[in-house]
Amino acid sequence: MAKHSVATLMVAAFLSVSTVTVLLMRPYNSDSSCNTNNFQNQIHSSVGNAPLAFMKSKLVLMVSHELTLSGGPLLLMELAFLLRAVGSDVVWITIQKPEELDHVVYSLESKMLHRGIQVLPARGEKAVDIAIKANLVILNTAVAGKWLDVVLKEKLAPVLPKVLWWIHEMRGHYFKVEYVKHLPSVAGAMIDSHTTAEYWKNRTRERLGITMPETYVVHLGNSKELMEVAEDSVAKTVLREHVRESLGVRNDDILFAIINSVSRGKGQDLFLRSFHQSLQIIQEKKLQLPSLHAVVVGSDMNAQTKFEMELRKFVIEKKIQDRVHFVNKTLAVAPYLASIDVLVQNSQGRGECFGRITIEAMAFRLPVLGTAAGGTMEIVVNGTTGLLHPVGKEGVTPLANNIVKLATHVEKRLTMGKKGYERVKERFLELHMSQRIALVLKEVLRKASQ
Ligand SMILES: *[C@@H]1O[C@H](CO)[C@@H](O)[C@H](O)[C@H]1NC(C)=O
Ligand SMILES: *[C@@H]1O[C@H](CO)[C@@H](O)[C@H](O)[C@H]1NC(C)=O
Ligand SMILES: *[C@@H]1O[C@H](CO)[C@@H](O)[C@H](O)[C@H]1NC(C)=O
Repeated sequence: MAKHSVATLMVAAFLSVSTVTVLLMRPYNSDSSCNTNNFQNQIHSSVGNAPLAFMKSKLVLMVSHELTLSGGPLLLMELAFLLRAVGSDVVWITIQKPEELDHVVYSLESKMLHRGIQVLPARGEKAVDIAIKANLVILNTAVAGKWLDVVLKEKLAPVLPKVLWWIHEMRGHYFKVEYVKHLPSVAGAMIDSHTTAEYWKNRTRERLGITMPETYVVHLGNSKELMEVAEDSVAKTVLREHVRESLGVRNDDILFAIINSVSRGKGQDLFLRSFHQSLQIIQEKKLQLPSLHAVVVGSDMNAQTKFEMELRKFVIEKKIQDRVHFVNKTLAVAPYLASIDVLVQNSQGRGECFGRITIEAMAFRLPVLGTAAGGTMEIVVNGTTGLLHPVGKEGVTPLANNIVKLATHVEKRLTMGKKGYERVKERFLELHMSQRIALVLKEVLRKASQ
């Protein structure tokens, strides 16, 4: 009784804290395939030892295409906070803001101001002035390229050599001359995965006839906040019980979750087909297993109605309503990661640019069933930390077989989860990301001062 109430309180505290302070955020962005989350609320690293310490007193201008709870902007904010923590002067500009007062913009700007980041209007003398004075200008996403001509005008030339362009997208419509024509003249491009970098090199050359500047691949890392929950077994148990109870799923049932904004590109439809097929295989082979459940986190009936209806219809047709659970878009993914057994990363086409949910799941010791595409292939070690299947319809049966495999072999599932966690500790922590970014910033500063 007493134990139960403590647990309930913890869950309540956890969930309310995470919604109020935007802690442990999982942004959904249908536009960018590089979703990211978790900017830093506390930075404990001692400044002297921090990889970014050399940025102390440097003036950095950050230019964000928008200010929303989506991957690109939050990642840039995360870097802004890391730089503030080592004593950089950081100035922030948002190119596109809603006309009306927007509570997300307001709350994110307040958060930045609170951390000593200066927030400026995108246009005007002040912005130009800072761009000229800055030691470094970080332009975030391909779209942000528009700002260069529109705002800097004849002052463009002296600024370009100190621009680092951070790119997180891998879609055709970003290869527009109006966005990226200055790419060849900037100090460098920073891209989240090797696949995406290759893709940009090819497409800029072939489609636009321009050459990428020096391009640095920087894999992302998990925030300290996420790692803290992932490594807290008490919190995880409490969250697991709470979420399972809310879904009506028993403790020993096996949960496969796909955590992405619901859209065709993220492959929820194909995942549900695989899931249904896996149930059939289990029935045909008369395998004695706990119940399998599928959780689709990231529903938004307002945004993707047609596709959402298609998913619901499939579930009803196949009579698997009691096995499939839809959860609305949420910023707090940790409770779901704590309560599932396997993460499915089913992004289609060229796959994820990076796919931060993948390293977040691995931090929670979850094996990953992922498409053999994009950043997923640079994160998941096939056969060791998860299993890969092809994109498209060809992938449906292999994924179904992989679902059965992980449902049947508990030992394998747990071992893969453990290996995934070890891989995160080796290369996908905030510290690793800071180290990788530090190398790039040093290079860019060196070039800018030449
Ligand atoms: C880029 O082009 C090269 C050769 O033209 C090719 O081998 C490679 O697969 C391409 N990469 C991507 C990501 O399209
Ligand atoms: C999920 O979102 C839909 C519409 O967007 C809403 O009607 C529904 O109440 C939400 N469900 C929960 C559990 O919040
Ligand atoms: C992943 O490994 C399995 C065997 O474990 C193999 O059949 C499959 O082709 C591999 N996929 C990729 C993309 O390497």
